[in-house]
Amino acid sequence: GNIVFDYSKASGFVSAEEMENMKSAVMCARDTLTSKSGAGNDFLGWIDLPADYDKEEFHRIKKAAEKIKSDSDVLLVVGIGGSYLGARAAIEFLSHSFYNVLPKGSRKTPEIYFVGNSISSKYIHDLKDVLEGKDFSVNIISKSGTTTEPAIAFRVFKDMLIEKYGRVEANKRIYATTDKKKGALKNLADQEGYETFVVPDDVGGRFSVLTAVGLLPIAVSGADIDRLMEGANDARIAAKETPYESNGALQYAAVRNILLRKGKTVEIVANYEPSLHYVSEWWKQLFGESEGKDQRGIFPAAVDLTTDLHSMGQFIQDGARVMFETVLNVQESPAEILLKEEEVDTDGMNYLAGKSVDFVNKSAMNGTILAHTDGHVPNLVIDIPKQDAYSLGQLFYFFEYACGVSGYLLGVNPFNQPGVESYKKNMFALLGKPGFEKEREELLKRL
Ligand code: PA5
Repeated sequence: GNIVFDYSKASGFVSAEEMENMKSAVMCARDTLTSKSGAGNDFLGWIDLPADYDKEEFHRIKKAAEKIKSDSDVLLVVGIGGSYLGARAAIEFLSHSFYNVLPKGSRKTPEIYFVGNSISSKYIHDLKDVLEGKDFSVNIISKSGTTTEPAIAFRVFKDMLIEKYGRVEANKRIYATTDKKKGALKNLADQEGYETFVVPDDVGGRFSVLTAVGLLPIAVSGADIDRLMEGANDARIAAKETPYESNGALQYAAVRNILLRKGKTVEIVANYEPSLHYVSEWWKQLFGESEGKDQRGIFPAAVDLTTDLHSMGQFIQDGARVMFETVLNVQESPAEILLKEEEVDTDGMNYLAGKSVDFVNKSAMNGTILAHTDGHVPNLVIDIPKQDAYSLGQLFYFFEYACGVSGYLLGVNPFNQPGVESYKKNMFALLGKPGFEKEREELLKRL
């Protein structure tokens, strides 16, 4: 099955005529993207990646994953932003909900923990406790090789590896995913002899999930990375070749820009499966960093439902009318749990006897879509046939393509992120990094 974008429930907010009127602008944005003639065009390596990836490296990724599986109880994945969210989204989407705490034997692959995505001492400290007595490996992922958060975590866990195994063996347990030729991490890897994988020059962090950045950790979790790439490639063909009228990615780009122009400045992605939480996080980065610039953009937000219907539900139903909602609907649940009849119907739930929990979930979803629509929140739906690698590959690509088109429609460069530098500059100044002396003086006066 294929990912389907369905905006029929939003027909009261987006008419067929508006969609038709938007067509020429969308096609122009699409051409800017595919002819590689727009702003940021040196970062379009992701467009054909699902077909034109480095097959030799792909093979090496699988081999490294096998080695990690055979010699490690734990894999630490060190990275932040685009060097973090894709792998986590995929692993949580595809794995057992309690992957890391399954008893040994029922899980054949290593525990996987993410670190270097904050600067929390407590988190690092507590993770060290988890590693006690366990064999582990580290995948350090940083395109630049100099990002503070992962660099700090890497220092700590590299030391721990060396202490435990000695330098020679430690170096065989470190896998560095970074720039092909340059950067601090590449230099260190060459010096120490770590196995390295490449973040291609022309693929930005938030578009890198289908490179080694995502693929190595995903492969270690036991997921099928061949199917992931196949799904992405089929979505690539569909996105590039299907006419506007039936092209989900182009329509999604069109609808969200129509809604933005009507004052809907917030998009909330809603899932009904806890294991999609990090897909939403990945999506937030993709759209937030791509579109939020030049004082423009749709603010990307996310809710986990039905959980957040008991908190954010009030605002969505009835608060300031600034948002639209994009529902991620996993059509086929991987598990079936049937509700039983109880002799005494104390909780009044017997009317559900014989029904599945997923039927209840889908009813909650359908009811919520209509309720929010009645509350003037346009609801878009993305149908995801199954929670498997093929569907996920499609979903990743669908969003990436739609994001590129949508960014050009908005009139921004979707492929840069100048705004993420400001906090770094201030942090370096306050830390006393050489070269930031003047900024430091200015900031200290303000604090
Ligand atoms: O999208 C981006 O550019 C960022 O989120 C980066 O991926 C993030 O800052 C990590 O950068 P690096 O891979 O260079 O450590």
